[in-house]
Amino acid sequence: MELRHVRAGVILGSLVALAVVGCATSKPAAMGSGDPVADRQRLMKNNGANWAEIQNKVKAGNAEGVAVNAEALALHAQRITLLFPEGSLTDKSKAKPEIWQKWPEFQAAAKNLENRAGTLRDQAVAKDAAAVTATVATFGRDACGTCHTPFRVPPPQQQPAAPRS
Ligand code: HEC
Repeated sequence: MELRHVRAGVILGSLVALAVVGCATSKPAAMGSGDPVADRQRLMKNNGANWAEIQNKVKAGNAEGVAVNAEALALHAQRITLLFPEGSLTDKSKAKPEIWQKWPEFQAAAKNLENRAGTLRDQAVAKDAAAVTATVATFGRDACGTCHTPFRVPPPQQQPAAPRS
């Protein structure tokens, strides 16, 4: 009797331990539609829209107003690498295979966007219009183009809101 209880306890304990380990090591459930190409193109479209809005606001003399858009770019940047799982290159995608051959550089390009967008946000929050204008002047090339040039097949026709790269 006693022994059976002990055994049951041991088994239960092991199951609990397994469950705990399982939770700790399993990856969090993937977010999004399950189609990484559609998800990343959606994210990038929103990057394009935010970037267009940033430029329009600066032209209109509203440098402070770009903070919300810069923050959106910084948050999106944190998700970029998650949306490029290995083997997700389909005929609908404009991603280059170099992404997976030079993964650390791709990661660095995403981090670079996160950092630059964070800088732009901070400048806008500080109401430093001169700094915002200076950052925006090179942002398309330095924050977006540095990734598009090596890692994206250039679009065939003019793309609205896409940065020059
Ligand atoms: C770390 C790399 C990286 C950075 C940084 C990056 N992009 Fe992209 N972008 C890509 C790749 C790769 C694609 C192609 C994705 C695909 O088709 O699978 C893309 C696609 C796009 C597209 C086309 C989306 C569509 O409709 O298919 C737009 C617009 C775009 N990016 C805008 C931007 C803007 C604006 C920025 C900067 C604020 C930016 N991207 C920063 C890698 C990047």
